Amino acid sequence: MAPADRPQLIVATDADALARMAAERVMAQISANPGRIAICLTGGSSPALLYRQLGSDAYRDKIPWARVHWFIGDERFVAESDPLNNMTVAREIFLNHNAPPANIHPIPTTTEGPDASAEAYARELQSFYGAADLDPARPLFDLVLMGAGPDGHTASLFPDYPALDETEHWVVGVPKANVAPFVPRVTLTLPALASCREMLFEMAGPPKRAILTRLLNGENLPALRARSMGETVWLVDEAALPEGFGG
Ligand code: 6PG
Repeated sequence: MAPADRPQLIVATDADALARMAAERVMAQISANPGRIAICLTGGSSPALLYRQLGSDAYRDKIPWARVHWFIGDERFVAESDPLNNMTVAREIFLNHNAPPANIHPIPTTTEGPDASAEAYARELQSFYGAADLDPARPLFDLVLMGAGPDGHTASLFPDYPALDETEHWVVGVPKANVAPFVPRVTLTLPALASCREMLFEMAGPPKRAILTRLLNGENLPALRARSMGETVWLVDEAALPEGFGG
């Protein structure tokens, strides 16, 4: 699969419509794969409406829970009991009571520090994938969800941080975040995130307009550099879309 030159831009009328469109895309990737499915979730507030959709009556019974494995693209290095923990948010909104516990793959935060956590999670991903080298013909994930922060970061890949240029490791520790919350992070790297059939960004609401303007103008920020080996989609709502950029 060769990556397309530009991400595909899809515009939803508002944040609710965007979440429903995202849920349909999740279901489409699930339907396309009759075997074991791997979905990489994301943190922050952007995916919350999508997670609610997936846990709602509209989708819950359509998801083949036994076949779907849930990973996370980055984690704040805080305890699982902390509401800042990204996987805890996903668990509370839709995974608990639906996904078999063995199919939920959190980034561990009980290790000595973020580097040890990154090593442990890389091992877990490699054991799931069945190899320590990514095969360009065989994606690690069916779907990777992403968001973009105000500085153009995505996952916990911040502008000008060395993690952004990592090419060997699948997961790395980040000692200090560039934006709040200022806790250490653990993040998948661009090559690991790229190994997917579809990478789906969600950007909604007026606060995203400034960063979306910079990204659409082609600034070489992490959120622009993050591309799938398959399809990359930017799902945005009208409130986030700068004037002059149509769908
Ligand atoms: C995190 C993230 C991060 C997030 C963006 C957007 O842990 O914070 O995974 O990359 O997706 O910062 O965050 P919001 O959705 O809160 O705007």
